[in-house]
Amino acid sequence: METFVAAFTPVSSQHNASLQSEQSEASVRPLIAGNWKMNGLAPQLRQIEAIAASVKAKPPLADILICVPSTLIARAAQCAGGRIGIGGENCHSEMAGAFTGDISAEMLKDAGACAVIVGHSERRQHHGETDAMVAAKANAAWRAGLLAVICIGETKSQRMDGKALSVCGDQIAGSVPDGMTLSASAVAYEPLWAIGSGHTPTSEQIAEVHAHIRRCLVVRLGAAGREVRILYGGSVKPSNACEILAVPEVGGALIGGASLKATDFEAIVNAVSKRAESSLAALA
Ligand code: 13P
Repeated sequence: METFVAAFTPVSSQHNASLQSEQSEASVRPLIAGNWKMNGLAPQLRQIEAIAASVKAKPPLADILICVPSTLIARAAQCAGGRIGIGGENCHSEMAGAFTGDISAEMLKDAGACAVIVGHSERRQHHGETDAMVAAKANAAWRAGLLAVICIGETKSQRMDGKALSVCGDQIAGSVPDGMTLSASAVAYEPLWAIGSGHTPTSEQIAEVHAHIRRCLVVRLGAAGREVRILYGGSVKPSNACEILAVPEVGGALIGGASLKATDFEAIVNAVSKRAESSLAALA
């Protein structure tokens, strides 16, 4: 697990020079993260084994994280063998106590997780999670030594009303605690209307929101806000990954449905290498 946690640092190795030159704003390895949501029984762990095997065979130019249901974390971490990170999908803000059915960040860590998703729109929608609750969960993740993937995003009607930027700005203000750092956090922009729908925003729309999120982070956090990875999530698949990952300020992806199948997930991971190769070719 230590190997993986160490991977969440700014890129300095030679093989990522192309990504560094292309991503001047970040110089950081992209993060390709899966979110299995409420999917996965024991046989699904074979997908983790397959992804770990392909990472061993061809080390990716990205940090790889798969967030799984709590029931699978310990076994998934074993299958991953430290080659890919395993994360939780939610945590309670308290360390322990009388909260029947809840799981603390410390428990996720104890089970073998190195990260946790907080504030996913499905938790905000179905469990009434507010920005303040999400910020408390992010703080809990940091307290436990986990990377917090903090999710934000607008609904379809908010976008139609021209409020996408203001909604995301407000969610950053409310959901991101002070003290955010590159090694402890990522922000995931997931427009609700793109999740599981097969529809994605245009590259221009993604670029506009990511640039706004970056501005908000820099105003709020200074230099640290320049480095934190901003992931895009919502109907990312092998066929659109290259285009999405090439959008300025997109520092990776948070993938739902396509993360359930190793071959699809691997194809998205490979899109990072393809992007690096084509930028190298452009420089030659
Ligand atoms: P899909 O990739 O299935 O649209 O889900 C996105 C998501 O919600 C990831 O957190």
